[in-house]
Amino acid sequence: GDGARVQALIVGSGYGGSVTALRLAQAGVNVHVIEQGMSWDTPGSDGKIFANTTSPDYRSYWLRTRTKAPLSNFLGFPIDKDVPKYTGILDAEEFSGITVYQGRGVGGGSLVNGGMAVTPKRENFGAILPSVNPDEMYNTYYPRANAGLGVTNVDQRWWESTQYYQFARVGRKHAQRSGFPFVFVPNVYDWDYMKAEEAGTVPKSALAAEILYGNNGGKKSLAKTYLPAALATGRVTISPQHRVTNVAPASGGGYTVSMETIDTSGNVTGVKTVVADKVFFAAGSVGTSKLLVKFRDTGSLPNLNGEVGTGWGDNGNVMCGRANHMWDPTGAKQSSIPTAGIDNWAAGGAFAEVAPLPTGIETYASFYLSITKNPNRAQFSYNAATGKVDLNWQTAWKQPAIDMAKSIFDRINSTEGTIYRTDLFGTYKIWGDHLTYHPLGGAILNKATDNYGRLKGYNGLYVMDGSLIPGNTSVNPFVTITALAERNIDNIITYDV
Ligand code: FDA
Repeated sequence: GDGARVQALIVGSGYGGSVTALRLAQAGVNVHVIEQGMSWDTPGSDGKIFANTTSPDYRSYWLRTRTKAPLSNFLGFPIDKDVPKYTGILDAEEFSGITVYQGRGVGGGSLVNGGMAVTPKRENFGAILPSVNPDEMYNTYYPRANAGLGVTNVDQRWWESTQYYQFARVGRKHAQRSGFPFVFVPNVYDWDYMKAEEAGTVPKSALAAEILYGNNGGKKSLAKTYLPAALATGRVTISPQHRVTNVAPASGGGYTVSMETIDTSGNVTGVKTVVADKVFFAAGSVGTSKLLVKFRDTGSLPNLNGEVGTGWGDNGNVMCGRANHMWDPTGAKQSSIPTAGIDNWAAGGAFAEVAPLPTGIETYASFYLSITKNPNRAQFSYNAATGKVDLNWQTAWKQPAIDMAKSIFDRINSTEGTIYRTDLFGTYKIWGDHLTYHPLGGAILNKATDNYGRLKGYNGLYVMDGSLIPGNTSVNPFVTITALAERNIDNIITYDV
């Protein structure tokens, strides 16, 4: 409540926040988690908690009046539509040169993402987190993260036979015919649940295109893994629909944390302040960076250093589709959960997820989300005129990512005698180069913080989320975010608690 004193306050309930809550509570610390999004535990009038990807509604977008689907056009038709303004699950946050997609709610990005749970190849780790000892990550913290998240592999015999992964088998054939390694990728989806979906014994979820706007079925979001474990300790309180607005040193020690309560239309319904001994920033790469840059530059936390706000990257994300021949149908029925990728990282700087395009009709399209070694990095800065924090990314900075993705798809097109789709991201537009799903950086480990996430300039302030990672993880990021949080909180519990 207002005016309370708490031992540890965590801003945000995604991967970094959930790990922090569980491990602090297990160490005997009372924890308060502040989350701006909703709790997502109550069904709507259709009996479902989350809306389907094919029919977005008020639940789908964070405070927008019109949807902003990552694929803006299909077969020439714009697919976006008006929706009531609501604290929905997916934020399409627009900066000048890029739209950054993020999850909103108790569980953060785990509510909306594809569940691809990838541990980077060890040979790439030195470029991902150069100041971190790889032995401790690969021996202790990656295994701990994978266990905590419930990561498993698809049953390959079933994968070979189900019509729902026809699209992925076509992806494999095309990768291999061009000489690229095709790799299976673990996931947090419950594969037995998916088999039961196919058998018709449970409601269809992944097999009914649920993704992006939440999953009502077998996806093990943080709301099924770390967060219930944290709550079961009896030491964790989660306050949804609370937005942190300021953090400043308190006169008697600790930090005064100001927050707003918001209703489902985003209106501010109240303000509260609490005093916390320790504050853990886990608002995501964009959320944490925006808060810290603003607090530094408006005088609440003036000792934060000049590294805060720098080193932001998009994990090299770029999307594209290919048009297959009639003898390579990708299937009217597609699981929304990806299982595989094409690995051309060492030779071409790209790792391409063979992504579903679950439209319900045969499209003869292969769809890919590539993660590339794009070297460009952007910076957040406080804009005193608007009172907001800007990001200086430019759309043209995606060109290296496009070139790296082409190292895979130009060759596949040449082998197969096929062409790129030009109807998915606009009219006659091949590359989805306007977005990222994987924001990383803004409070880089060992620069803005010490080597364990302690913010330089203050005692008792920490960063625990994707903003610690300098812009790229070579694969999908959440396993690395989780493992790094596990590593850092171990050190913080040992020395600071
Ligand atoms: P995360 O963003 O998860 O959590 C931050 C939380 O803080 C949010 O819930 C937010 O509402 C809250 N918050 C922010 N500001 C606040 C404030 N001021 N006050 C209170 N709360 C505040 N990754 C992967 O590895 N495999 C995959 O398959 C995918 N797929 C994918 C698909 C889509 C559509 C998206 C959008 C993303 C993915 N990702 C992914 C990316 C992955 O989801 C992402 O990297 C992590 O969720 C980031 O975890 P963090 O802990 O950094 O923050």
